[in-house]
Amino acid sequence: MPPCKVQPEEYKGMSKERMMEIRRTNCNPVTMKITYYKRPVNIHQGYMQWLWDVDGNRYLDLFAGVATVSVGHCHPKVAAAAANQLQKLWHTTNIYMNSPFHEYCEKLASHLPDPLKVIYLTNSGSEANDLAMLMARLHTGNFDIITFRGSYHGGTQQTMGLTANSSYKYPVATSAGCTTAVCPDVFRGPWGGSHCRDSPVQTIRECSCAQGHCMANEQYIGQLKETFATSLPSQIAAFFGEPIQGMGGAVQYPKNYLKEAYKLVRERGGVCIADEVQTGFGRTGSHFWGFQGHDVIPDMVTMAKGIGNGFPMGALVTTPEIAASFAKAFHFNTFGGNPLACTVASSVLDTIREDGTQQNSLHVGTYLMTELAKLRDKYEIVGDVRGKGLQIGVEMVKDKASRDPLPTTAMSEIFEDIKDMGVLVGKGGVYGQTFRIQPPMCITKEDVDFFLAVFNKAVHGYMDRQ
Ligand SMILES: Cc1ncc(COP(=O)(O)O)c(C=O)c1O
Repeated sequence: MPPCKVQPEEYKGMSKERMMEIRRTNCNPVTMKITYYKRPVNIHQGYMQWLWDVDGNRYLDLFAGVATVSVGHCHPKVAAAAANQLQKLWHTTNIYMNSPFHEYCEKLASHLPDPLKVIYLTNSGSEANDLAMLMARLHTGNFDIITFRGSYHGGTQQTMGLTANSSYKYPVATSAGCTTAVCPDVFRGPWGGSHCRDSPVQTIRECSCAQGHCMANEQYIGQLKETFATSLPSQIAAFFGEPIQGMGGAVQYPKNYLKEAYKLVRERGGVCIADEVQTGFGRTGSHFWGFQGHDVIPDMVTMAKGIGNGFPMGALVTTPEIAASFAKAFHFNTFGGNPLACTVASSVLDTIREDGTQQNSLHVGTYLMTELAKLRDKYEIVGDVRGKGLQIGVEMVKDKASRDPLPTTAMSEIFEDIKDMGVLVGKGGVYGQTFRIQPPMCITKEDVDFFLAVFNKAVHGYMDRQ
């Protein structure tokens, strides 16, 4: 394991057994299912890309609290900015003027292209998407919204309508008017080839498309047109899409898909919404926002997670025209734009620039994917390696010919081994078949080499046991 200059404080808190007892008795019972590991990890402290458990074991964190710790756990600069603001002013609502709120709105707006200049600050990604649904419907006067199958856009009753993954669905009426479209997944989907996606690593599928032509794209756009023709009225309110589908397992679409989809949506009166909750703030490396990699400009951008490096916060950014349609009633939010949150988020933006975080995502992420592709070529069960920057998915399969998902029990074995060797990764995909790598964006090539050795050993060990 690469060295770390920081030593954790000695843990003097509650015992692991007591925590588990409380979890069982007083916490949402679902949290029992999502301890994630057979032997759960009890986190005590964090520093940059490192986490320590209560026994003093150190882990390389490649999941960042679900793609959230953007610049590093307890980043000293962000922590200092927060501590300073804590001494001055924690909270006041936006009925009063306060400088952290205005400074942050101006700074965030400067990171977005015209005409995306009007900011709404929220407390989470779900809240930002909920607001985007309402705004899109008010602005267009239409009702229907499209999302991709396999997507996750939030867990509120409204956004549950957008989310298209059975694990997050309850048998109750959620938001009406949400229709799912086929996810243009060039690895698992019916179509895909050898140069469909914008990634340093292409799929193992072959195609005979000439340069500049993508049959998979034509087919998936055809499917979208079919959805318009069969499932939607002639006028719609919105299309929600992540630039790279996060919870789905870093699923990437054919290169021109979003551009063509945006055109079709706008022809039907809809607005295009980029959910940048996972892909924003430089994670994709080549650009600050994921949508820029698709050469599109959305009408609304929603964001959360990395915005505050773990401080609870979210945002929606839109055009003055759409904002004007929303000004007909009074939209109030007690905590949105709280001075402490704004100070933290402002410091995160400064840190991304000063630490060269986006460039690091590009270089380290490209290296990681290129090396992972060698392991994909070595092992029959490593089906696909994809992504951009530090938004990476490794899809595991029964075998490369079928591309069927590796069963959950096998995934769990490998997952547990990776953790036991000192690395935390995430899981995603509709069938839980994809390892997700979305670390704090400060990881180094040395860390990557360590992870590669661990991953190789875990997969090798699993294969040996068969
Ligand atoms: C793409 C995407 N959108 C929205 C959300 C919801 O964000 P939050 O959990 O902050 O409500 C998530 C959460 O995982 C997400 O991944």
